[in-house]
Amino acid sequence: MGSDGKYNAAKLALELVKDGMVLGIGSGSTVEIFLNLLGERIRKEEMEIYGVPTSYQSHFAAIRNGIKIVDLLEHSEPDLCIDGADQVDSKMNCIKGGGGAMTREKIVACASKKVAIIVDESKLVEKLSMPVPVEVLPFAYGYVSKKLKGLGAEVKLRHGSGKVGPTITDNGNFILDCDFGEIVNEKVERLEKDINSVSGAVENGLFPKVIVDEVLVGKS
Ligand code: 5RP
Repeated sequence: MGSDGKYNAAKLALELVKDGMVLGIGSGSTVEIFLNLLGERIRKEEMEIYGVPTSYQSHFAAIRNGIKIVDLLEHSEPDLCIDGADQVDSKMNCIKGGGGAMTREKIVACASKKVAIIVDESKLVEKLSMPVPVEVLPFAYGYVSKKLKGLGAEVKLRHGSGKVGPTITDNGNFILDCDFGEIVNEKVERLEKDINSVSGAVENGLFPKVIVDEVLVGKS
C-alpha cells in the first residue's frame, strides 16, 4: 500500500485545482506528493497558485514548487484546502497530527471554502482508534494530562528524533498522544470539543466530519 495509493490520491486532488486559486496546504507525505505534482502543472500551464501552508514542511515544499506563499491575514478564506489524514472513519471523521501540524491544519481547514482529504486505502477504518494528538502549552502540560486522563485517555508525551526531549511543534508547544481506544462515530464531535475545553489544550487532531467535504482515496 502506501506510496502508490498516496500518489493516486494526490492525482485526484490535482483535478480540483484551478488557475488563480488560493489553497490551504496541509502537511505530510501525501500533501508533499500533491505539491510536487502541482508544481509540474504550474510550470507546464504557467498557472498562478497561492497557498497558505500549515507547517515548515509544506511551506518549503510549496516554495520549491512555485506556489506563492500567502497567509490568512491576506486571504482569510482559501478556495480549497488539501490535506492528508492518519485515519478516516466510515462517516468521514478523521484523525490528523501524525506530523504534529494539526493546529494550523485545523485552522486552515475551517477557514477554507472546501476541504478535500487525500489518503491511501490503509487509512480507512470503521471507527477511529489511534491515539488523538493534542497540542498543549508546555506550561499547562501537567494539568492538561490529568484532565485528559479524566476524559478516559491513556496519555503519552510525544518524543521526537534528532533532539532529546519532547517534540516541539511549529508553534513551540508539546504534543500529547491520547489513546481513547475506539471512538464511536457519533461521539467524535463531542470528544473534540471536550478536549479543547481544557485550559492549556491548544487544539487536537480530531477532525469531525462537519469540517471535511470530500475524502479522495487513492488505490494502490
Ligand atoms: C500532519 C498530518 C498528516 O496529514 C497525516 O499525518 C498524514 O500524513 P501522511 O500523508 O504522511 O501519511 O496530519 O499533521
